[in-house]
Amino acid sequence: MLQVTNIEKSYGKQVLFDGVSFTVNPRERVGLVGRNGHGKSTLFRMVLGEEHQDSGTITMPSGYTVGHLSQHIHFTEDTVIKEACLALPPNEDHIDETYKAEAILHGLGFTNDDFERHPSSLSGGYQVRLNLQRCSCRSRTCCSWTSPRTTWTSFRSAGSRNFCGPGGTR
Ligand SMILES: Nc1ncnc2c1ncn2[C@@H]1O[C@H](COP(=O)(O)OP(=O)(O)OP(=O)(O)O)[C@@H](O)[C@H]1O
Ligand SMILES: [Mg+2]
Repeated sequence: MLQVTNIEKSYGKQVLFDGVSFTVNPRERVGLVGRNGHGKSTLFRMVLGEEHQDSGTITMPSGYTVGHLSQHIHFTEDTVIKEACLALPPNEDHIDETYKAEAILHGLGFTNDDFERHPSSLSGGYQVRLNLQRCSCRSRTCCSWTSPRTTWTSFRSAGSRNFCGPGGTR
């Protein structure tokens, strides 16, 4: 039904797929598991035709359509750090509080290099983390979300006690 043959895909020097082939047959149910940023959504985008592989082919029988629930989030700024700073509470004494956004981002696994990246170039999992940063900055008393355990673990190490009240938030 879905035939993927020898695909290769890179973003710059980052190689995501190097000669990957597989077939999904009728009535098969397949789960794709991998660490954040390792290419799961990119594979789906290629299957959907939203992204082109560098080489190889992806074929389906004519007349088949693919349903898709997107993981990605709408951001308005062109860098991660600008997007993160949008969430800082109003600052009446006008002291630069970018460091607060940076501290939470670091705790969530972002590096300094990531701060200048376009938010839409992040993997879906990191987009969720950026959204989590916005949530934690906006609310000092309560923050709720549905997210994998790894994200919660990262959030707890993000210094949430400092910015969200004693004991962090749940
Ligand atoms: N348009 C883009 N430009 C540059 N790099 C990109 C772009 N889209 C994705 N990437 C990078 O490609 C890698 C794979 O991203 P992808 O979204 O496919 O990961 P994923 O496995 O779905 O991750 P997650 O589990 O976090 O959803 C990531 O490092 C991401 O930063
Ligand atoms: Mg993804």
